Amino acid sequence: MKALISFVNSAETKKLTETIKEELQEKNYSVQLSEIIKQKKQPKSNKGKPAKLKSGITDWKPFDLIVLGFPVIGISSSHLMNDYLKQCINIKGKQAAIFIACIGLHGNALKKASSIVSFHGGKVKDSIIISSFLGLNEKKIQQAKNFALKL
Ligand SMILES: Cc1cc2nc3c(=O)[nH]c(=O)nc-3n(C[C@H](O)[C@H](O)[C@H](O)COP(=O)(O)O)c2cc1C
Repeated sequence: MKALISFVNSAETKKLTETIKEELQEKNYSVQLSEIIKQKKQPKSNKGKPAKLKSGITDWKPFDLIVLGFPVIGISSSHLMNDYLKQCINIKGKQAAIFIACIGLHGNALKKASSIVSFHGGKVKDSIIISSFLGLNEKKIQQAKNFALKL
């Protein structure tokens, strides 16, 4: 079984990505990590369109499970994650899971990312919001482990 973890980097999402990767490997998944980074300079012709990416695996075909992770910035979804999802292909029929790192004000972040996946025919089988005002403690890490174990 192959899993892809696509994540928008932050100190917390990086740590959670590594934790989830280890747990999935325990479950015999072969795991590929993919950091979503946008191109620094966006072409003028791209105005109003999803940001062009410098990195991020957008073809979901080879994977049985796709895990998406991002931090909440500005009480909303990560624009970068949404832009990435809009460019992904072969989503139809795929199982996805979402984890979000924030300090507690997550607004519609989960709803927005989930709805893009569902719109393209994917199924969000589970999601978790990890809220950590003072950073990630053992309890939060354990939450991420439990989340991964159920996938
Ligand atoms: C500019 C900025 C805006 C943020 N806005 C929110 C927010 O609206 N709601 C929330 O719960 N957390 C918010 N956060 C907290 C981040 O989600 C949290 O810091 C992130 O998951 C951890 O990344 P870090 O450890 O690299 O800072 C914000 C952080 C930054 C830097």
